[in-house]
Amino acid sequence: MGRLEGKVAVITGSGRGIGRATAELFAREGAAVVVNDLDPEPAEEAAQAIKDAGGEVMVSTDNTVNFEEAERMLSAAANQFGKVDIVINNAGITRDKTFHNMDDDVWDFVLDVNLKTAFHTTRAAMPYLREAAKSEMKADGKPAYHRKVAFTSSTAGILGNAGQANYTAAKGALISLTKTLARELGPFHINVNAVAPGFIETRLTAAKQEGQDIGVPEASRQMALLLIALGYHGKPEDVAKAHLFLASEDADYISGVILPVSGAMLGA
Ligand SMILES: NC(=O)c1ccc[n+]([C@@H]2O[C@H](COP(=O)([O-])OP(=O)(O)OC[C@H]3O[C@@H](n4cnc5c(N)ncnc54)[C@H](O)[C@@H]3O)[C@@H](O)[C@H]2O)c1
Repeated sequence: MGRLEGKVAVITGSGRGIGRATAELFAREGAAVVVNDLDPEPAEEAAQAIKDAGGEVMVSTDNTVNFEEAERMLSAAANQFGKVDIVINNAGITRDKTFHNMDDDVWDFVLDVNLKTAFHTTRAAMPYLREAAKSEMKADGKPAYHRKVAFTSSTAGILGNAGQANYTAAKGALISLTKTLARELGPFHINVNAVAPGFIETRLTAAKQEGQDIGVPEASRQMALLLIALGYHGKPEDVAKAHLFLASEDADYISGVILPVSGAMLGA
């Protein structure tokens, strides 16, 4: 039996990278999964891979920067699968700039994608997580099981990173949000945790070409290796496994925790 048998999970930003690896792993562990990504093509590809492996999946291309789209995604998930048990707030983006060059557009865009999507998606999930637990408490004195919320923060949100004032402000805020929501939702047996990936091989950390919006200069990719005790960059699956642990019953008594997945990155 899978570790998420019978559970329903909504995962934002799961057409690529860490989100996709998490969606595929959750489906293999028995969860019905909502693959949410702004980009329809990778979202469909991820969903097809899950179907091909025998999993249950639906696609959402909602942009949860808008609350109405978050509500639409959650209600579509509940209509399709009957409930929602797990929310993984993973959508993220970078637009690196030195601070003195950072204008409002670049600031707002990165805060919106990394932080507001998480706020909206989690708030839109409250009827399915908090209200469901509340009615179980009324009927039986306690929630029937633990429901889970998790965020993909970053070691950059713990350590800071030159050129990422916008991104680190958002990822740091996710850490505070994790701790606050863990307190607020604990009585409903909703566990709230975050993973903090270090340097994981995805398009966000691929060698940056001239004129590209995302990516990391090759020199920084190499420098990161010097800071990682294990001596190599992580893979999306490394982070997916941490999300799986936190979403599983094995972590039912763990809440308000920030779990670095960084190969012992110096300082994180
Ligand atoms: N790669 C790393 O080293 C690393 C390190 C720390 C944290 N993270 C975080 O991990 C998460 C996943 O990043 P990744 O490295 O897999 O990047 P990725 O670019 O491979 O995947 C992110 C996905 O999010 C999607 N997305 C962007 N905006 C969205 C929105 N508004 N709604 C829904 N989907 C949206 C993108 O289309 C993309 O498919 C992000 O939150 C990122 O900040 C990554």
